[in-house]
Amino acid sequence: RTQAPPVVTTVLLAAPRSFCAGVQRAVQIVQRALDDAAGPVYVRKQIVHNAFVVAELEDHGAVFVEELDQVPDGATVVFSAHGVSPVVRAQADRRGLMVIDGTCPLVSKVHAEAARFARRGETVVLIGHAGHEEVEGTLGVAPEATVLVQSVEDVDALDIPVDARVSYLTQTTLAVDETAVVIEALRRRFPGLREPPSEDICYASTNRQEAVRAVIAEARVLLVVGSSNSSNSVRLVELARRHGTPAYLIDGPQDIDPAWVDGVTPIGLTAGASAPAVLVDQVLSALAARGPTRVLEREVAVETIRFALPKQVRTPAGADG
Ligand code: F3S
Repeated sequence: RTQAPPVVTTVLLAAPRSFCAGVQRAVQIVQRALDDAAGPVYVRKQIVHNAFVVAELEDHGAVFVEELDQVPDGATVVFSAHGVSPVVRAQADRRGLMVIDGTCPLVSKVHAEAARFARRGETVVLIGHAGHEEVEGTLGVAPEATVLVQSVEDVDALDIPVDARVSYLTQTTLAVDETAVVIEALRRRFPGLREPPSEDICYASTNRQEAVRAVIAEARVLLVVGSSNSSNSVRLVELARRHGTPAYLIDGPQDIDPAWVDGVTPIGLTAGASAPAVLVDQVLSALAARGPTRVLEREVAVETIRFALPKQVRTPAGADG
């Protein structure tokens, strides 16, 4: 008797996944600074919220600190992709630090809006997660004028008169569907609500969420490569679970519990915007080591956006290999 052929596991790979343009830029800034700088390169906070990326840069000599008082006067310091509040910039100035700004341009855009809305005399409602570094930075732009809300309940509890001049902004990595509900509540509460000129949730977060939707339409489980402090990665897990698909956040193949994947097909796989592609490759290899797999991609968008590096680390024209 011939043996039944082994069952082939289908892996549905979400696209886009992994690094966004802002993360790619921030990581490159630290790499270039390490190549160029005479002295040590300090980085305030994790450059991006990924344990593997931070460990790799640390191996290459980057010194990660929580606050600027851990950086010696006059030293080079990189600000993380999540942005900093103006207080931190001022502190760096006073200390004579050589700042290279890794803030994602799409976070800077939200900061500029916060400043503009506050100048117009509006109360700025920021939709975001308390304690997240990006939120701390954005709150710091116009602290007297800005209030943070995380939910519809928070909107209901706002102590602002209905006829007040109110505008809103959001964190860049929120779930599009959850945020829409909070924005609706704001519109109901404040009929004159002023809106940001364009969506603050960034293209990368939006696309990765759309790709997860495409994958979970078929997959029986979803693996999301990302670290637990990565906001956009956590949102991908939550999105899948809201739609009834079991989903797990993993830093790499070592975190896969065989019980999640054994005999399960199709398996969905994606990675948050701060998780490098090499980790996805490692997960694919780990799955292939368990039995035959075939990999199919579910692509919902093609991302071509790139951000220029800050001038301090820009290679002179023509010098790029
Ligand atoms: Fe920027 Fe969005 Fe990435 S805000 S860092 S492009 S997740």
